[in-house]
Formats: sequence, structure tokens, C-alpha cells
Amino acid sequence: MMPGLSLDTYDQGERNALADAMEVMIRAFDPAYGEAWTLSQLSGVMLMPGTWLTVARLDAAPLGFALVRSVLDECELLLLAVDPSWRGKGIGETLLRDSLLTARRRGITSMNLEVRATNNAIRLYEKNGFEYVHRRPGYYRGNDGQLHDALSFRLDMLI
Ligand SMILES: CC(C)(COP(=O)(O)OP(=O)(O)OC[C@H]1O[C@@H](n2cnc3c(N)ncnc32)[C@H](O)[C@@H]1OP(=O)(O)O)[C@@H](O)C(=O)NCCC(=O)NCCS
Repeated sequence: MMPGLSLDTYDQGERNALADAMEVMIRAFDPAYGEAWTLSQLSGVMLMPGTWLTVARLDAAPLGFALVRSVLDECELLLLAVDPSWRGKGIGETLLRDSLLTARRRGITSMNLEVRATNNAIRLYEKNGFEYVHRRPGYYRGNDGQLHDALSFRLDMLI
């Protein structure tokens, strides 16, 4: 893990955690693909039991976050994002592995995710053992109205 990086996990939508995640959200997602969430979407999902948000910070500055929703023994990685100026330093992978660790600790046995078919993040997921499940045509709508396919991936974990 990058020296000085701290990870904090929130099971409720604490104001500072939501604000920090939104700071990264605004910078991280290209509006062309319509993947970023609004503050009200983020605070709404945090009201659902079994959802957790992990924020990566360096000297209190938010650099990335992961958002996971779980139901019984399954979970879904809803969002993973790193500030563009801090990419390629392992922060995304640290957040992903921490999310998997948290899931295991909570007795969860699988993690699912959807990712735009052209997203480089697929490399990160495959590297960490996720397997392709299927394609969902036109899953994302960009701000220009163009539709983009999503691929769904799954990781089955041995507890
Ligand atoms: C995806 C994202 C979170 C990766 O964060 P990151 O901190 O740059 O990733 P890491 O430095 O931890 O990379 C880990 C591994 O992922 C892969 N990877 C990550 N970004 C990649 C890229 N742009 N191109 C190719 N491989 C990439 C590599 O295999 C890398 O391992 P390596 O350095 O050993 O080759 C970041 O690019 C991001 O925020 N993207 C925009 C938001 C998004 O699309 N999120 C995913 C869908 S919700």
C-alpha cells in the first residue's frame, strides 16, 4: 500500500465521507459515459443496510473510494474511483482488495460488478481474479445520448 495512505470504511453516509467521495467522483468519471453518481444517489444507497463506502486519503485529502452493496452472502462493487492525478500508483487495487477483504470478513462469498466494455478498469478486475459473466448491451447512457455496453464480472471467494 502507498505510504501514508489511509482507508476508512463507513456503513452510514457520514457527511464528510460523502463529501470526500463526491470530490473524487466529480474528477474521476468522464461525463461522456454517464457513470458518475450524484450526491443524492450516493446518500440514498448508503441508507440501504449492507452498503459500505471506503475512502482512501492521504494527509486528509481524498484520493479514491469504493462503494459496495451487499445482500446476504453476495455483494456488488457499485463504484471504484481514483483521482486522475493519482492513478497508476496502486490506489485502485488497494481499494479493490480492501473491499474484498471487508466482504470476506462479513461472510460474503461473491462479488459482482458491471463495467463499461471499453473501460481499462477491466484489466484491474481480471488481474484480481474476476471472471467475465455476460454483456449487457446499452447499459450506460453518455451525456450525448450514446449508449455503451457493460460487461458483468464475478468473483467467487473461498471463505
Ligand atoms: C479504474 C481506476 C479506479 C484504477 O485506479 P488506479 O489507482 O489507477 O489503479 P492501480 O494503479 O491500482 O492499477 C492496478 C492495476 O489495474 C490495471 N489498470 C489500472 N488502470 C489501468 C489503465 N488505465 N490501463 C491499463 N491497466 C490499468 C493494471 O493492471 C494495474 O496493475 P499494474 O500496474 O500492476 O499493471 C481508475 O482508473 C479510475 O478511477 N477510473 C475512472 C473511474 C472508473 O471507470 N472506475 C471503474 C468503474 S466503476
